[in-house]
Amino acid sequence: MKVTIVGAGNVGATCADAMAYRRIASEIVLVDIREGFAEGKALDIMQTQTTLGFNTKVVGSTNDYSKTAGSDVVVITSGIPRKPGMTREELIGINAGIVKSVAESLLQHSPNAIFVIVSNPMDTMTYLAFKSLGLPKNRVIGMGGALDSSRFKCYLSLALEKPANDIQGMVIGGHGDTTMIPLTRLASYNGVPVSQFLSQDKLDKVAADTMVGGATLTGLLGTSAWYAPGASVCYLVDSILNDQKKMIPCSVYLEGEYGQSDICIGVPCIIGKNGVEKIVDVDLNDAEKALFAKSADAVRAMNGDLKSILG
Ligand SMILES: NC(=O)c1ccc[n+]([C@@H]2O[C@H](COP(=O)([O-])OP(=O)(O)OC[C@H]3O[C@@H](n4cnc5c(N)ncnc54)[C@H](O)[C@@H]3O)[C@@H](O)[C@H]2O)c1
Repeated sequence: MKVTIVGAGNVGATCADAMAYRRIASEIVLVDIREGFAEGKALDIMQTQTTLGFNTKVVGSTNDYSKTAGSDVVVITSGIPRKPGMTREELIGINAGIVKSVAESLLQHSPNAIFVIVSNPMDTMTYLAFKSLGLPKNRVIGMGGALDSSRFKCYLSLALEKPANDIQGMVIGGHGDTTMIPLTRLASYNGVPVSQFLSQDKLDKVAADTMVGGATLTGLLGTSAWYAPGASVCYLVDSILNDQKKMIPCSVYLEGEYGQSDICIGVPCIIGKNGVEKIVDVDLNDAEKALFAKSADAVRAMNGDLKSILG
């Protein structure tokens, strides 16, 4: 199986490294606009083959999309990341032009690929890719919910003082500091509701920490994070390539699901070889439904900024 990742920066290269090490694909192509940069990252990853014990071929390319031909999955991470104090939304103007042109070049060379959009503001970039590529909705997937959910489970495990892999939980809604919705009511510690172990105050703090999880790291690092984002992309692409049917919250085009239409926003999806194989209809309570509607309003307002690009 072949995967292309556009953007060989922090997230793209980490994602390639995780995919190679975990052997989820036979070939990975890294593309970047910076002369020689993707080639350098690819070669560096290839030189970990014998010490880490994998045989995945990793190829770099400076904007030559012919090398991406026949990819099964393409991942778009190209664009600028957040700096401290910036919201994901402030990236829209620059990243929209980049995402649209990159997506079109990828489609020319890999007409059957499943598209995974990572560049921020991710829900709006996913909507842009969906609208401009004209692909069926199962083939355009925004990655944000996998990352937000892994941050949620990390904060829950810290609050519970229990191993993160014993925790289940999801974050749905928009991939923004104020739009994401950690579903604390449905989170569990090995199937037992976390509310049995944590007070409402502690659960509220976990949810608040999750929502600013990205901003906290941007403040600490001076740019947005990459290990957890790269690993989350790998987790999602693994479920596609290996037809794992994992339930992962992803930003997908909605046509009435969760009471919303003409929008890409995070909802739980079954992810397999066809991309989004099913949108799971979780029974939200009234408060969660209201949060979802508010989140969708915010994402839709941002999509309005795409009018000049989409025509
Ligand atoms: N969805 C998520 O959960 C999530 C998480 C983290 C970061 N992000 C987003 O991912 C994007 C990348 O973040 P990063 O930290 O890797 O940034 P980065 O600056 O380290 O890397 C971005 C790379 O894109 C390249 N690039 C720019 N324009 C290009 C083009 N037209 N074609 C090919 N390559 C191009 C740059 O040269 C750079 O190497 C940002 O928009 C960031 O906000 C999303």
